[in-house]
Amino acid sequence: MIEVTDMHAYYGKSHILQGVSLNVQEGEIVALLGRNGVGRSTTCKAIMGEVTPHGSVKFKGQEIAGKKAYEVANLGIGYVPENRDIFPGLTTRQNLTLGLKPGQRDGAGRWSMQMMFDMFENLDRRADVEASVLSGGEQQMLTMCRTLMGDPDFVMIDEPTEGLSPQMVQKVAEVLQEIAKRGISTLLVEQKLSIAMDIADRVYVMGHGQVVFEGTPAELKAREDVRKEWLEV
Ligand SMILES: Nc1ncnc2c1ncn2[C@@H]1O[C@H](COP(=O)(O)OP(=O)(O)OP(=O)(O)O)[C@@H](O)[C@H]1O
Ligand SMILES: [Mg+2]
Repeated sequence: MIEVTDMHAYYGKSHILQGVSLNVQEGEIVALLGRNGVGRSTTCKAIMGEVTPHGSVKFKGQEIAGKKAYEVANLGIGYVPENRDIFPGLTTRQNLTLGLKPGQRDGAGRWSMQMMFDMFENLDRRADVEASVLSGGEQQMLTMCRTLMGDPDFVMIDEPTEGLSPQMVQKVAEVLQEIAKRGISTLLVEQKLSIAMDIADRVYVMGHGQVVFEGTPAELKAREDVRKEWLEV
């Protein structure tokens, strides 16, 4: 589905990504783990075209490095950024509508607004109030649901469990599994092992702009050295 090979990225003169290679197959949940500042979000932004990627980014076999972010989105890649990216003056429902692609009708894709409300009753209850009054966790859910409304085939979700209650974390895990069930590929960015170890098919660990480990959750569990050096604080 997505194949990144020797990807580099820069902020000005800072060489942030130093040859990242990773892939996510159809329906797979792949976790991208690592400490703060190692370049996980930059990896997503470079795939998305929000930061210029140097190297190869192939989506369904097509080279997309060099495309603009809206072109990448229209091809079927979604990005749920780590900050709660809502339109505060609009209602929950209006925010969800804005996730639709130009010309896309609600319900025409794999998701509908009603499904979002069924999955997240907090959003349902606040469907017609301004999104600014939602809690931080609810705004995070709304950001994720809005991206899904655009019906991506591959979605990158950046630290979705950050600051959520244990129940909400569980809910996010269920939704991620629901996403996989629909054949959508997921790159799940997390700092902690937490849900990644439970639901990911494979795991990449990043350190200093490079992938330093690749394997299954079970393999990572067995590698105390990797966890000590690159994950634990
Ligand atoms: N817009 C920017 N301009 C300059 N440097 C940046 C910018 N965004 C990120 N960086 C730097 O790039 C490095 C990687 O940042 P990135 O956001 O990818 O990290 P991360 O792994 O997502 O961690 P976290 O989300 O905890 O910050 C960091 O050293 C950060 O300071
Ligand atoms: Mg980040």
